Amino acid sequence: MALKIGVVGTGNMGQYHIQRLATSISNAQVVALSDVDVEQAKRVAEAAGEARVYSDGHQLIGDDEVEAVIVASPGFTHEEYTLACIAAGKPVLCEKPLAPTTDACLRVLDAEAGRSDRLVQVGFMRRYDDGYRAMKASLDAGHVGSPLLMHCAHRNPAPPPGFTSDMMLTDSVVHEIDVSRWLLGQEIIAATVFTPRRSSLAAEPLQDPQLVLLETDGGVLIDVESFVSCQYGYDIRCELVGESGTVALPDQVGVRLRQEGRSSTEVPADWRSRFAPAYHAELQEWVDGVLRGEITGPSAWDGYATTAVAERCVEALETGRRAVVDLAERPELYD
Ligand code: NAI
Repeated sequence: MALKIGVVGTGNMGQYHIQRLATSISNAQVVALSDVDVEQAKRVAEAAGEARVYSDGHQLIGDDEVEAVIVASPGFTHEEYTLACIAAGKPVLCEKPLAPTTDACLRVLDAEAGRSDRLVQVGFMRRYDDGYRAMKASLDAGHVGSPLLMHCAHRNPAPPPGFTSDMMLTDSVVHEIDVSRWLLGQEIIAATVFTPRRSSLAAEPLQDPQLVLLETDGGVLIDVESFVSCQYGYDIRCELVGESGTVALPDQVGVRLRQEGRSSTEVPADWRSRFAPAYHAELQEWVDGVLRGEITGPSAWDGYATTAVAERCVEALETGRRAVVDLAERPELYD
């Protein structure tokens, strides 16, 4: 018995999920697609096998055959589609962000928090990466003692067209915000953004790189380098410093090449190749969880808290000052 899934948004991320669902995820079937670009949705539907196509995401959510929904349309549409899924009582895997503003996230929280069970999961896939999972297991087992500091780097070879300085925080650093909250089990209470000299290779007017300093309610300091014009590849780093040791993401898997007096490993070209296994695990565990009636991945609260911190990071970038994060009270559903 396969879970019958509808996907809203058939762009990059939607196609990435659909292709995986059609080929390598067990117990899942894509039965409906929706996109404002209907011709594109039709092409994707043909490639994925049989799936109905809707121009309106709300019609897809209302389709009786659709048991669960993936929302992979742009961030500004997430609130309305996630709210519609909650109203229809259908589990939804909403790509990040849950919504682009804290007010919109709070409306989703309000709609879900009155329920006895969760319906919403947010697409923070780093929690499914083997490296981060091993770091969490090591930290939770007490191998490095109580955490003090985290050092993170998020480097892309070049930004996509139209990428802005704010998006270096809301689209890139947002992953470090989520994964550090999850690793530490702590909330972030303040953010400061430092701006070193711009790289001469960064597209005008991008402030690239940036250095973000996050403070948690447990007294941990997290520094995140965001550098989207680093030229050499997609490089994600994370080291956690505890009172009695450190634990870090491993170097990239893959072969080590020794040749002509040099020893080297490959740097991934982009986020797809780096995190492909994590995207797979995210989808498979979501499908399995929905079929069991249990949603355990990043919650609407995580989506809200992450957007709240990202918003304050943007404020800190604009003002050059420390911005304080003021979170709402956490509803019981998310304890
Ligand atoms: P995209 O622009 O490639 O695709 C978005 C699609 O949604 C387009 O086909 C567009 O026609 C469609 N669309 C626009 N308005 C719509 C509406 N009202 N209803 C239905 N469809 C609509 O964008 P991309 O890169 O696929 O991003 C989609 C989402 O995935 C974003 O929220 C983005 O932040 C997230 N994302 C997450 C990543 C992750 O690592 N978890 C990586 C890349 C993107």
